[in-house]
Amino acid sequence: MGYVKAVVGTQYGDEGKGKIVDQLAKDADYVVRFQGGNNAGHTIVIDGEEHILHFIPAGIFQGKTCVIGNGAVLDLDKLKEEVIGLEQRGVSVLENLLISENAHLILPSHVEESKTDKIGGTGRGIAPAYTSKSNKTGLRVRDIINVQCPIDQVDLDARPNLTLFRDYLLKHSYLMPNIVNVAKMLNFEIDMEKNILIEGAQATGLDIDHGEYPFVTSSNCSAGGICTGTGIGPTRITDIIGVAKAYVTRVDRDGSGPLVTQLDGWHGEFIRKQGNEYGATTKRPRRVGWFDAVLTRHSAMINDLDELIITKLDILDGLDELKICTAYELDGEIIYDYPSDGIVLRQCSPVYETMPGWKGSVKGIRSSRDLPIEAVRYVKRIEDLVNVPITMVTNGRDRKDYIIFD
Ligand code: IMO
Ligand code: MG
Repeated sequence: MGYVKAVVGTQYGDEGKGKIVDQLAKDADYVVRFQGGNNAGHTIVIDGEEHILHFIPAGIFQGKTCVIGNGAVLDLDKLKEEVIGLEQRGVSVLENLLISENAHLILPSHVEESKTDKIGGTGRGIAPAYTSKSNKTGLRVRDIINVQCPIDQVDLDARPNLTLFRDYLLKHSYLMPNIVNVAKMLNFEIDMEKNILIEGAQATGLDIDHGEYPFVTSSNCSAGGICTGTGIGPTRITDIIGVAKAYVTRVDRDGSGPLVTQLDGWHGEFIRKQGNEYGATTKRPRRVGWFDAVLTRHSAMINDLDELIITKLDILDGLDELKICTAYELDGEIIYDYPSDGIVLRQCSPVYETMPGWKGSVKGIRSSRDLPIEAVRYVKRIEDLVNVPITMVTNGRDRKDYIIFD
């Protein structure tokens, strides 16, 4: 039997999903993106060299066939830049890339529009592209093929964007051999017992339905989006792996999104510096906070997580004390359930449990048996609070810096 395994973010993005996907891709046949666009920035460090991916799934460095599903949105100019950048570094992209004919395009007009977005986004045209998809004015990848043939005037009248962006579509006709029926292809390959690895972008805290609306992105980043975003039916998915940082970070333009455990003082600065917490996409300093077990417990439920991976444990090296948020206080009451509402969340304050930090560094450790006992207890406490088995911990930037946790 093959598998259909998914990797999803459990916080606000930037959990290190790219590194995990690169790691897990070793025994996959296909690596598939199902939502989001170049708001994603997935960093993978190989032999000290940093690679940042925005559209292309992180399986590309393992030479796997990478697939962009219909639920994603594509800026063709930016995709081209990314492909050229990777090919120049000797990574074969075009021969390993398949794109769904039904994926929607981020048009130049969408990018313009998102510059004045009221709810701070990445300015990459994400919300306008998904808006066009919903209001049925969008262009799709298959329109690159459609414009090659004569189109009926009736169709052109109904879809003025086809005329408006004709040259833009023609400019990208080099992609024609890469455009396929992804739903059919993947379902066939699952029948053939191939291994499918699904790569999430963004995270449950940013999910349009289950996140902190309106401080969210415009797609379903949680596991539910896999079915609509690829055409794989729900019962074919075999494993769902959540990724969480050992603390939390959040990026937004003006800091207006909720971050219940935000650290403003010395601790925040320390973690930001140690963890290099500056946006891979926007370069903005990320806001930093203590681990929020209420949020990750919510993500465990929404995604029905089978496993949890904790990343960047080494960033907490050298702190005397660590805090974990176990509940929220709202209007004098203690709540354990996560409110999926940005306005309510901004009024919540954290209820903390304090744990001792560890001496020395967890960097370079390759076995959980060699971890300081305090580090093991910290990870185990998160496991208890979130109630999902933690199977891996990462402790450095390089693809080889990870520990199987048992
Ligand atoms: P990865 O895949 C972190 C944030 C933006 C903004 C909000 C909405 O690297 O984890 P959008 O442009 O999507 O409409 O912006 O979501 N955001 C991310 N934050 N990591 C990401 O992706 C993000 N993608 C979007 O900063 O606050
Ligand atoms: Mg990122």
